[in-house]
Amino acid sequence: MSRNVVMGVTGGIACYKAADVVSRLKKEGIEVDVIMTQNACHFVDPLTFRTLSKNPVVTDTFATPEAWKVGHVALAEKADVMLIAPATANVIGKVASGIADDMLTTTIMASRAKIVFAPAMNVNMYENPIVQENIERLKARGYYFIEPGSGLLACGYEGKGRMAEPPEIVNYVHRLLSEDTEAAPASAKVRDLEGKRFLVTAGPTAEKIDPVRYISNRSSGKMGFAVAEAAFSRGAEVTLVTGPVKLSCSPGIRRIDVSTTREMLQACEEVFPDVDAVVKAAAPADFYVVNSCEHKIKKKSDTITLELAQNPDILKTLGSRKKDQILVGFAAETRNLEAYAEKKIADKNLDMIVANDVSAPGAGFDIDTNIFTIITADGEKTAYEKMTKAEGAGIILDRIGEMMRKR
Ligand code: CTP
Repeated sequence: MSRNVVMGVTGGIACYKAADVVSRLKKEGIEVDVIMTQNACHFVDPLTFRTLSKNPVVTDTFATPEAWKVGHVALAEKADVMLIAPATANVIGKVASGIADDMLTTTIMASRAKIVFAPAMNVNMYENPIVQENIERLKARGYYFIEPGSGLLACGYEGKGRMAEPPEIVNYVHRLLSEDTEAAPASAKVRDLEGKRFLVTAGPTAEKIDPVRYISNRSSGKMGFAVAEAAFSRGAEVTLVTGPVKLSCSPGIRRIDVSTTREMLQACEEVFPDVDAVVKAAAPADFYVVNSCEHKIKKKSDTITLELAQNPDILKTLGSRKKDQILVGFAAETRNLEAYAEKKIADKNLDMIVANDVSAPGAGFDIDTNIFTIITADGEKTAYEKMTKAEGAGIILDRIGEMMRKR
């Protein structure tokens, strides 16, 4: 199998992460040729990419005779996958409009390879309808996109626009390179979940105390959203039931926003009979406030008493009604991880549980990484090293895909 990646690097601060991508691709034995735009050269010197890729770096169409001879056609033909990382709003706009005015855009235009963009830009730029329209247009023509992450951006803004992390990009490229190859592992099949229907839950729930206060927990929804996005990009039809979170998802995902655990249960009960698999990554509040107030509670006394009653256990309810759905739960623990997780498999009639010690560094709430052990109903245990939540989502889906094929 030939494994040639032509990587386009455009001008953004995420160029420094692009260097890591090249290094990781090379470590996997993939041949990499880098084309840099003029703007990219302001951020990182071409020497960095030349050293990492062990190939000449092309920076201008006409500058050197060698580069001109190799030319856009030669590189376009050599590529099995073209990866544009970071991809600015500018390069996305140019390609979407058919503009080819430098080495990178001419190569993209001349290439018949799979082309994947890893966008990186300011959140307002990313959300600009013009940029979104360009992305949709390119997607409709078969170009691939690796969703940017959310968080603090280099420009000081908070939001979506941070380039996906290098391991996630490398994973994606690897899958594109291996697609349709018989020997490829399940994770390498880009659309291996085509025709499957998934219900994914994410985030916390919030239980009302009064109109301005509520009880909730520290779940950010990142793990559930990562699973929903990954399942969707692998061809599944996805319903995402989410509690209050600050995340957005691909327009093709059916998203149902809920607030309380009881609302989440209701939404899940409606969807459950029609799905093949459920991934319950949400952290629903276990208790609701019985004596919640219709009006804001005033500071009349030194103490107040909230009466809490147990919420329904959504997963247990679904488990008791399970027909042939694959039911995957999560166990967030701070001690006795495996024993508690195994008990949850039995109590909730699960096929698999993703157990994580939320107190471990690199695991838990509101961060982009996770460390978990997967335990199946037949007692098989696999512990995974620290990974991004997107990589974790890929592993969980691989395991579900494996179970689906065995049935
Ligand atoms: N869960 C659920 N409904 C609830 C509480 C939890 O469906 N009311 C699901 C979660 O989505 C998760 C799994 O059950 O997939 C385990 O959640 P966790 O908070 O670890 O455990 P609990 O079952 O709530 O038990 P405990 O809090 O006693 O550990």
